[in-house]
Amino acid sequence: MTTHGDDAWTGLALVVGTGGIGSALTAQLKQQCQGLRVITAGRQGSPAQDLCLDLERDGDLEALTETLRAESDELRLVVNATGRLHGPGLVPEKRLKQVGRSALLEQFSINAIAPVLLARAVEPLLQRDRPFHFASLSARVGSIADNRSGGWYSYRAAKAAQNQLLKCLSIEWRRRWPLATVTLLHPGTTDTDLSKPFQTFVPPEKLFTPLRAAEQLVNVLLAQEPEDSGAFLAWDGQPIDW
Ligand SMILES: NC(=O)c1ccc[n+]([C@@H]2O[C@H](COP(=O)([O-])OP(=O)(O)OC[C@H]3O[C@@H](n4cnc5c(N)ncnc54)[C@H](OP(=O)(O)O)[C@@H]3O)[C@@H](O)[C@H]2O)c1
Repeated sequence: MTTHGDDAWTGLALVVGTGGIGSALTAQLKQQCQGLRVITAGRQGSPAQDLCLDLERDGDLEALTETLRAESDELRLVVNATGRLHGPGLVPEKRLKQVGRSALLEQFSINAIAPVLLARAVEPLLQRDRPFHFASLSARVGSIADNRSGGWYSYRAAKAAQNQLLKCLSIEWRRRWPLATVTLLHPGTTDTDLSKPFQTFVPPEKLFTPLRAAEQLVNVLLAQEPEDSGAFLAWDGQPIDW
């Protein structure tokens, strides 16, 4: 287990998304990185949030920049733990016939566009000589190289698009903010509302509790340095093919 850096992470951490993994990440960061003050953001009505933030609303993202500017602690870490796989009227596609415009737009809105606009909203807080980490939850099924079974067209494509957008971000930030690190993370299949309808064929030992997923992800994150920026990593720290 890599834990170096725990004490070096001081300042403000923002976890966006108060779902299964987001809540567990918040708890884990509070426990493991005691130099961080961890605040959470989520949509109105979501549990246990400090800031109200809908990543699909431009006005909320603009307000976030101002809220963070008013914070006394330096922003050290932002984690995007939002995402959507299914919902009212949204079912992952098994075949082409089920692919439709509204599901594609909905998936891209939260799983691709939201993370890069979150990065844009927090960028004004970065300082050239201060370390900063931006991490976002992607998914292994967003890997084009790893796609052997097809299906889930819009979720897969949206996560692949997120990967490309944040890869671009990592390249730009390397020039402009050399101490910034961008990381795309696959948590592994984790027992949350998002995965509930699809757990039937997952062997119990491959279904992580949110707490276990969070422990693993925090350890992966703490091992990342600016020279690693732009990596797409699984819960065990192994790189995933694009
Ligand atoms: N669980 C898994 O097996 C698994 C596997 C691979 C990747 N992932 C990825 O891990 C991430 C977290 O998933 P999870 O399992 O923790 O799912 P979850 O429990 O369903 O949490 C998702 C969170 O995203 C929030 N969200 C959705 N739209 C939002 C918006 N517009 N603005 C702000 N927040 C929004 C939801 O808030 P509301 O409550 O307001 O809807 C919810 O809190 C996702 O990106 C997912 O794709 C999960």
